[in-house]
Amino acid sequence: MVKELAKKNRSYRRFYEDRKIKREQLVDMIDCVRYTACGGNKQTLRFLLVCDDKESEKLFSSLQWAGYLPEWDGPVEGERPSAYIILLSEAASANATNWDEGIAAQTILLAAVEMGYGGCILANIDRNTIVSDFAIGSDYAVKLVIALGVPKEEVVIEDISYGDDIRYYRDANQVHHVPKLKTQELIYGEDK
Ligand SMILES: Cc1cc2nc3c(=O)[nH]c(=O)nc-3n(C[C@H](O)[C@H](O)[C@H](O)COP(=O)(O)O)c2cc1C
Repeated sequence: MVKELAKKNRSYRRFYEDRKIKREQLVDMIDCVRYTACGGNKQTLRFLLVCDDKESEKLFSSLQWAGYLPEWDGPVEGERPSAYIILLSEAASANATNWDEGIAAQTILLAAVEMGYGGCILANIDRNTIVSDFAIGSDYAVKLVIALGVPKEEVVIEDISYGDDIRYYRDANQVHHVPKLKTQELIYGEDK
């Protein structure tokens, strides 16, 4: 069920780092992206697969985690993602691919959830460092990073209404709470 997958597909930021993801599984996720819609069917996105420990460590240092949790520096060693997918776009069309990236990122995450993993989309990333660390040519721009692993944290949805605080938070048991508007509030004209 799509709804079940969508519900399970939370942004996870703490993982069982020793539960590895094989490169072939990352390729399987990209195989799902292959069938998605994209503007003008131009297919300008490319996916850099990172599952080697050394490369993962290098990439981790270019990521900013959980802006609403400023006291948290991101996952500690042992709880870090076991793999990543770096979304690249042809530099010439990089400004026109935001929609494509969103569709690709969500497809990758839904596939990951179905395989028993989870992840987090990261846009708050040091693109220049990623370009130089991974020797990405000037013909491609770094758009997003998707962190992946076996989730170690519990994430729960909190129903909210328009005007309520939308910031996620962690409680004393380290459960991560994500406020989401109720369905009715998303339907234009029925949201008041
Ligand atoms: C385009 C985009 C960029 C994001 N960038 C980051 C990021 O840089 N760091 C991070 O920790 N989370 C990032 N997130 C995750 C969001 O914070 C998360 O989706 C939001 O808090 C809602 O939680 P949910 O994904 O569980 O619904 C990003 C999500 C999206 C869709």
